[in-house]
Amino acid sequence: ISKLKPRKPLRVLITGAAGQIGYALAPQVATGNMLGSDQPIILHLLDVEPAKNSLEGLRMELVDGAYPLLEAVHTFTDVAAACKGVDVAVMVGGYPRKAGEERKDVMAKNVSIYQQQASALEANASKNVKVVVVANPANTNALILAENAPSIPRENISCLTRLDHNRALGQISERTGKHVDEVKNVIIWGNHSSTQYPDVNHGTVAGKPIRQAVNDDAWLNGDFITTVQQRGAAIIKARGLSSALSAANAVCNHVRDWVRGTPSGAWTSMGVVSDGSYGVKEGLVYSFPVRCCCGKWTVVQGLAIDAASRERLTATEAELVEERDLALQCLAERK
Ligand code: NAD
Ligand code: LMR
Repeated sequence: ISKLKPRKPLRVLITGAAGQIGYALAPQVATGNMLGSDQPIILHLLDVEPAKNSLEGLRMELVDGAYPLLEAVHTFTDVAAACKGVDVAVMVGGYPRKAGEERKDVMAKNVSIYQQQASALEANASKNVKVVVVANPANTNALILAENAPSIPRENISCLTRLDHNRALGQISERTGKHVDEVKNVIIWGNHSSTQYPDVNHGTVAGKPIRQAVNDDAWLNGDFITTVQQRGAAIIKARGLSSALSAANAVCNHVRDWVRGTPSGAWTSMGVVSDGSYGVKEGLVYSFPVRCCCGKWTVVQGLAIDAASRERLTATEAELVEERDLALQCLAERK
């Protein structure tokens, strides 16, 4: 009897693994939700020294999960060791914002982590490592990481806006009463912040344009947008903690589509280094509509952008420029 050759295990790094997203994400990776039910995994879990016991607890629980795909779980407090040979790096390590704070408020604490960890990734990870930054301010942390890891190809560094994308799908699904699977091709443009632009102008519900299916432009241009923009804050208010389950799920969706491809005819949203598409300043990490195939993403080109949308694309771009300048200033002051 011939046996299919088993796949080589892939190494997945989760930084900040002892935190709440880590606790929700690690088991999802172990069950194949990120890389597929045929892909063996070796988990690298990194956190800071004071979180060592909690990290060990997570390792024990993962062993006790007896996951068929999980070949090994390694824990680290040393970033260089944690990055050794990793194929996928999920950068969650950092500090979440609290009620009343903007994501920019956690800037000073978090960007310096990304500056330091960039060199460790560059020196130790697999040459083709795919990086997704989750910790806030996610786009700007990813930009700092990209600038401090020049040998990692730009297109391999991304940030998570899939949670916002999924939030937009969820809102349209609830409003129309259609299953979320029937809602396609919304777009998140720009920053993972309250200036992001959730755009429904190119999307469909059960094959009909979203605007036609919803039949309420006032809602689509108003409450829909603010609900998606403010959903992170609403969850912090409700739970007293920032989103974790939905963030972990979105990380798996993001990496799975990137590695295994977006479904035919559909696109998703990813924060990627801008190549100037849609007039967005080159080099900013900006969320675009992308299609993925064979481990590569490409920005969906040629979508018509009306004047109201253009204004929103520009506003979120301006915030990213401001964040970048602030991040560089924070890093310069730490020297
Ligand atoms: P958390 O506080 O529960 O966990 C963060 C973990 O990071 C902690 O265990 C902490 O010890 C660790 N950490 C801190 N500095 C570190 C370092 N230098 N190296 C390694 N680990 C380090 O927070 P959380 O709820 O898991 O959220 C993590 C981050 O993700 C926050 O910045 C949050 O705002 C962000 N977030 C982003 C999205 C998104 O869609 N992009 C969604 C939800 C949360
Ligand atoms: C989210 O969108 O849920 C996270 O970015 C957490 C936050 O600070 O809003």
